[in-house]
Amino acid sequence: MPWSPELPYNDLPLLPPNRDLETVRVLKACVAARTAIAKLEGTAALMPNSVVLVRTLPLLEAQASVEIENIVTTHDQIFRRLAVEGSQDDPATKEALNYRHALLEGHVALRDLPLTTRVAEAICSRLRSIDSAVRRIPGTRLANPSTEEVIYTPPEVESHLRDLLANWEKFVNADDDLDPLVRLAVAHYQFEAIHPFTDGNGRTGRVINSLMLVDRGLLTQPILYLSRYILRRRPDYYRLLLGVTRDDNWEDWILFMLDGIRETADWTSAKIVEVLDLMAWATDLVKGQLPKIYSRELIETVFARPYSRISDLVEREIVHRQAAARYLKALVSVGLLEEQRSGRDLLFVNRRMLELLTEE
Ligand SMILES: Nc1ncnc2c1ncn2[C@@H]1O[C@H](COP(=O)(O)OP(=O)(O)OP(=O)(O)O)[C@@H](O)[C@H]1O
Ligand SMILES: [Mg+2]
Repeated sequence: MPWSPELPYNDLPLLPPNRDLETVRVLKACVAARTAIAKLEGTAALMPNSVVLVRTLPLLEAQASVEIENIVTTHDQIFRRLAVEGSQDDPATKEALNYRHALLEGHVALRDLPLTTRVAEAICSRLRSIDSAVRRIPGTRLANPSTEEVIYTPPEVESHLRDLLANWEKFVNADDDLDPLVRLAVAHYQFEAIHPFTDGNGRTGRVINSLMLVDRGLLTQPILYLSRYILRRRPDYYRLLLGVTRDDNWEDWILFMLDGIRETADWTSAKIVEVLDLMAWATDLVKGQLPKIYSRELIETVFARPYSRISDLVEREIVHRQAAARYLKALVSVGLLEEQRSGRDLLFVNRRMLELLTEE
């Protein structure tokens, strides 16, 4: 039966696609993307441990990924929320934090497990905050929200979905010589086409993208902020996914993803260099003006995230509680931090870093 948007696409072909994926254009784009990722990995290694990257970059990814679903939150809210426990969250901030949680938890899971359907279920459950398993009931479809026109109807019946996922899983973990970035692009299409869950498929798929880069050894940490690119190119993203289904147009889809990986890796490398420069500047400033309180750990702590609290210094055993406030206030006096009250909490904002992370 020919494909039709209103009918469940039960004939979704199994992986690998029955054609040559690595065309000359794809291979050229692959080289560029792989080079950018290698540079990112090298730049990330310059960052002192525990600082910024692992805690911060996934948050940018989280914010972008939930924004795709028209849930808008700001980086500032997310970062502030991280500093203040038990603060009232708006739903969008909660979503973004769930996304980050899912990403980091998935990263931990993959140290011991391969990327499987079960891991996908765990990721989806975490990011939706409700138990999510492979669909059992029919009725899931993708429609244009304003016109209600149906764009795509994914396959149906749980056993069929599980078979398709088993094939996806095998492809994701296969040990052949397909380029890992081409594999990522193909697997992402297939995951979205299977659409295993009633909701959260896009976000789960994007978490899996980040995890695949780590799983394939291209990055040590899940720091590639790819959802930013997808967000900004959402009409293309949707059009090209549909292009694979309707026209078997793998090449344009793969090129789109490779280009996104290259662009995002370059952007992220540049951000990391900027953060490193800012840290070097802050180090000179504090060494010069506050030599008595200077330590590398102190600088790293106020760069671990844009909002710091007194307890952050105490937890890292930089200074005991009585002196911690004095240290942070000294950093305010030299213009490194700003003091801000949030309810009963006193926050210290690293404004330059916040701006650097959130500006385009
Ligand atoms: N034509 C298509 N075929 C297959 N998948 C598609 C198509 N168009 C969009 N998608 C995918 O479906 C996702 C939306 O599905 P769903 O609502 O389950 O995910 P979500 O995570 O809740 O939403 P979002 O991705 O918008 O944040 C899109 O992000 C995209 O990945
Ligand atoms: Mg949704």
